[in-house]
Amino acid sequence: MSVRRIAETQPESFEFTPDNLEWAEELIAKYPAGKERSAVIPLLWRAQEQNDGWTSEPAMRLVADMLGMAYIRVYEVATFYTMFQLSPVGKKAHVQVCGTTPCMLRGSKQLIEICKKRINKDPHKLSEDGNFSWEEVECLGACVNAPMIQIFKDTYEDLDEDSLVKLLDAFAKGEKPKPGPQISRDLSCPEGGLTSLIDVPAYVPLNLKSSETTSEDTNTEADIGQAAATKLMEAKPVIDLEKDEPSEPQAPLSDVDKAEAERMPEDEIVTNGAPAETEAKAGEKSTPSIDDDARPDSLENPRDGEADDLKKIKGVGPKVEATLNSLGIYHFEQIAAWSAENVEWVDAFLAFRGRIGREDWINQADILSQGFETEFSKRAKYNEKPSNKPAEGDE
Ligand code: FES
Repeated sequence: MSVRRIAETQPESFEFTPDNLEWAEELIAKYPAGKERSAVIPLLWRAQEQNDGWTSEPAMRLVADMLGMAYIRVYEVATFYTMFQLSPVGKKAHVQVCGTTPCMLRGSKQLIEICKKRINKDPHKLSEDGNFSWEEVECLGACVNAPMIQIFKDTYEDLDEDSLVKLLDAFAKGEKPKPGPQISRDLSCPEGGLTSLIDVPAYVPLNLKSSETTSEDTNTEADIGQAAATKLMEAKPVIDLEKDEPSEPQAPLSDVDKAEAERMPEDEIVTNGAPAETEAKAGEKSTPSIDDDARPDSLENPRDGEADDLKKIKGVGPKVEATLNSLGIYHFEQIAAWSAENVEWVDAFLAFRGRIGREDWINQADILSQGFETEFSKRAKYNEKPSNKPAEGDE
């Protein structure tokens, strides 16, 4: 990588525009007192955007003054990250060529030669018309599609000499070529189709192999894998590898659901949540009758047509909530009134048993039924409204 030094010729001064100044002051105010310097990168970036794509030395000083930092500290940041340009860049394109090993092995040297011929023999120098500049940078994180370049905020991947020349021609005409791979590759999928993980049985979880197959279909390892793969495909939404997306659209998980899923053992995540089909493992109690005396008081429908959000109870995710609703349990006060027998009955319908006692659902439900919050429900509420404010102690 080339040496990064600030330009010899610098402007006299730098000031933010009124709009950018207002934005910068608002941003700084988001950081805790004494931690304002954490805003150094966004401020430098805004200064660079305002200054035709490069960060001048007066801009670094201004940012340092605004954040109460030593000038050298801001200088260190600006000269370390190649996202900051230290001298004027081409008006139409500043080409950053990745020269790190994967890109180098796949032809980045040839791309650099093109830049030298087309733009300027030296990096960080403008082309004659002032429209282009180039530099070599370290890995830009698209190694799978090496070699690649970045122009301003976009990456152009899977390049060779011809495609780079075409790109430069397009930028010269003021066009905006489509970023990403410049060959037929789809995103970072393997070139020419799948080359690995095409043998589904090979990556089926072992626990599924052992617990979901029967003696008739386990004659060989391949049979075990195939039978398990079939079960897996039945249990989970099928991914269409051609389309690279789930066959049925899946609603994104909320932060609370994600936290719930992280806590769940794998067998519960795979479960489809239908009470009658809940797995009862060998040696465990089978699911009791729906009319058993131990069944807690249930409702046909939620009162006033509005169920409580049972996911506020730690240990209840969307699937468990659906199971509880299907058992006629919609409200915190219903759960708060459960007896030990009731708990045992409901527990038998959950894929991962013992959760009710372990998470103390009854106590949680009691608090929630009185209109108070628990530590968990408070956190869940906070997670629904994420703040940009960094945690105390963040640099
Ligand atoms: S090595 Fe070039 S993008 Fe990573």
